[in-house]
Amino acid sequence: MQTLKVKRIDAALPLLGQGTWNMGNASASRAAEAAALRAGLGLGMTLIDTAEMYASGGAEEVVAQAIAGRRNDVFLVSKVLPENASRRGTIKACEASLKRMQVETLDLYLLHWPGNHPLAETLAAFEELREAGKIRHWGVSNFDLAAMREVESLVPGRCACNQVLYNLQRRGIEHDLLPWCVENGILVQAYSPLDQGRLRKAPPLAAVARRHALTAEQAALAWSVRFAGVQAIPKSANLERVKQNAQAAGVVLTQADLREIDTAYPPPTGPTPLETA
Ligand SMILES: NC(=O)c1ccc[n+]([C@@H]2O[C@H](COP(=O)([O-])OP(=O)(O)OC[C@H]3O[C@@H](n4cnc5c(N)ncnc54)[C@H](OP(=O)(O)O)[C@@H]3O)[C@@H](O)[C@H]2O)c1
Repeated sequence: MQTLKVKRIDAALPLLGQGTWNMGNASASRAAEAAALRAGLGLGMTLIDTAEMYASGGAEEVVAQAIAGRRNDVFLVSKVLPENASRRGTIKACEASLKRMQVETLDLYLLHWPGNHPLAETLAAFEELREAGKIRHWGVSNFDLAAMREVESLVPGRCACNQVLYNLQRRGIEHDLLPWCVENGILVQAYSPLDQGRLRKAPPLAAVARRHALTAEQAALAWSVRFAGVQAIPKSANLERVKQNAQAAGVVLTQADLREIDTAYPPPTGPTPLETA
C-alpha cells in the first residue's frame, strides 16, 4: 500500500484507509463487517475511521472485533459529536470510545463538525487527552477555511487533520481549503470518496477506468488521492470491493486522464461553501 506523510502526524499513513459509517447497525452483519475491515488491514488499508455517532457506538464495537489482537497494526481514528464536545463531555466521550474499542489510546480524535460548545473548550479537552496519552493527535471534520483559521489561532500548530467531503462531484475544497491544509502540514481526509455509492459515472470516467482496466469506483478513488497530503477513507463491507479499493491506491492517473475527468466533473472556479452532505 502506498503511503503518505504529513508534518503534523508522526506516522506514515496508507493512501487509502477504511470508513465505518453504517457498520454496526444490524447485529447479524457485524461479523461480516469486521471481517471486511480485517481483510482491508491485511491489504494495507491500516487506518480505520469511526465515530461515536455511527450506529450509536455500534461501529466502534465492530472496530473492536476487527482489530482484536492487532492494535499495533492500526492507525485508529474516532470522533466526538459536537453536542458532547464540552471540556468535560469530550473527555467522557473519548473514554467511552476507548472502552467500546477496547484500546488504551486513539491515534487521532476529531470533532465531528462545528457545534455550539466553545471551540476553545473542545481543544483544551483534546490537549488534556493528548497529554494523558489517551489520544496521540487531534483534529477536526467539516471545518471550512475560516473555522480552520480559528482553530489555528486558538492552539497553533497542533490540529493534525481536517476530514471533509471530497469526491469527483464535490470539488469545492480544491480552491482554498485543500491547499491551505496541505501547506500547513494538516492531513486532508476525503470522506465519501465514492459519494456514498451515488457516483455519477460520466462517460469520461468510464473511458479512463477502461484504459487502466479499472472499475469507475477504482478510478474515482485513485483520482481522490492524487494530491500529496490527501488520504481517502472509502467504506466497504464487501470483501471483493475491499480488494478493489486497496488496488486503487496503486493507480497513477495521467495528465490526459485528469483533463478528461475535469470536463465531466469541473473543478471549482472560485470560493465554494464547504459541502457536508
Ligand atoms: N466526518 C464526516 O462527517 C463523515 C461523513 C461521511 C462519511 N465519513 C467517513 O467516511 C467514510 C466513507 O464515506 P461513506 O461511507 O459516506 O461513503 P463512500 O465510501 O463514498 O461509499 C460507500 C458506499 O460505496 C460502496 N462501495 C465501496 N467500495 C465500492 C467499490 N469499490 N465499488 C462499488 N461500490 C463500493 C459501499 O457499499 P459496500 O459496503 O456494500 O461495498 C457503500 O455503499 C465513512 O464510512 C465514514 O467513516 C465521515
